[in-house]
Amino acid sequence: MKDLKGKTAVVTGAASGIGRELALLCAQEGMHTVLADVDENGLRETAGLLPPGARHTEVKCDVARPDSVERLAEQTYATFGAAHLLFNNAGVSVGGPAWTATPEDWKWVFDVNLMGVAYGIRSFVPRMLKQGDECHVVNTASAAGLVSTPGVSLYTVSKHAVVALSECLHHDLQLARASIRVSVLCPAFTNTRIVDSARNRPADLAASGPASEALERRLREAVRKGRLSAADVARCAVDAVKADRFYILTHPAIKGAVETRLRDILEERLPTNPMP
Ligand SMILES: NC(=O)c1ccc[n+]([C@@H]2O[C@H](COP(=O)([O-])OP(=O)(O)OC[C@H]3O[C@@H](n4cnc5c(N)ncnc54)[C@H](O)[C@@H]3O)[C@@H](O)[C@H]2O)c1
Repeated sequence: MKDLKGKTAVVTGAASGIGRELALLCAQEGMHTVLADVDENGLRETAGLLPPGARHTEVKCDVARPDSVERLAEQTYATFGAAHLLFNNAGVSVGGPAWTATPEDWKWVFDVNLMGVAYGIRSFVPRMLKQGDECHVVNTASAAGLVSTPGVSLYTVSKHAVVALSECLHHDLQLARASIRVSVLCPAFTNTRIVDSARNRPADLAASGPASEALERRLREAVRKGRLSAADVARCAVDAVKADRFYILTHPAIKGAVETRLRDILEERLPTNPMP
């Protein structure tokens, strides 16, 4: 989609980090924006950073709930009459190996990271198909969706699923000859509040104990030192939409690790640790 001006962008996770920057960039491109998040204060802050006069609406939305995402779609169409660009971006992270993960950890991470994307597709794609004009869905996965990172098992598994879901969506839309394009955004470490994801964790899925402190320190440090800012990542994503690119690998340095993983599979050898 080359020309974004006057079109409508919906961004989940718009209260912070990459989602906030996606919303700001879309507004700078002249788009109407729908800012969605569970964090209403953060949404107001994002709205306060929009260029003066930018048309927008804020919607409190929990992407883990299909009814909440359906209301987001209803409100988007009631306000702007269309949605052209959907960023299924909200995400959370829990650290630790698979054997320390509780059922609540699995449920929370999968409800937000995977089902949040699935519900976004369910509520918006049929409406976009009816709309009939050029649309684009961008799902935020991660570099951890392309390689298998130790120390963040659940997160990695959920992001691999988002990559597969995006690839399937692309194939199905192509077979349906739809005018909806798909991209999957796969950033590596970026300095955002992702390591403080627990701030939005529902009480009924509360963590039973802290993950390893050493591991958490390591993750915090890696995220803090991320080479690209959230604004850089958002720029890569919007450029990819304009260029109609499916895979968005914001950090080219991870390509070597992706290649090694594919070689490991094809040569049926032990998986190489991408973060030794
Ligand atoms: N920061 C990184 O290093 C990194 C790397 C790769 C991928 N990502 C992905 O980027 C996306 C954005 O994360 P970020 O890094 O900007 O983190 P962030 O914590 O700064 O922003 C995430 C946003 O998602 C919102 N959110 C959480 N649960 C929600 C729910 N149930 N419903 C609606 N909104 C919800 C939060 O309130 C927050 O505003 C996530 O999908 C994340 O997995 C981040």
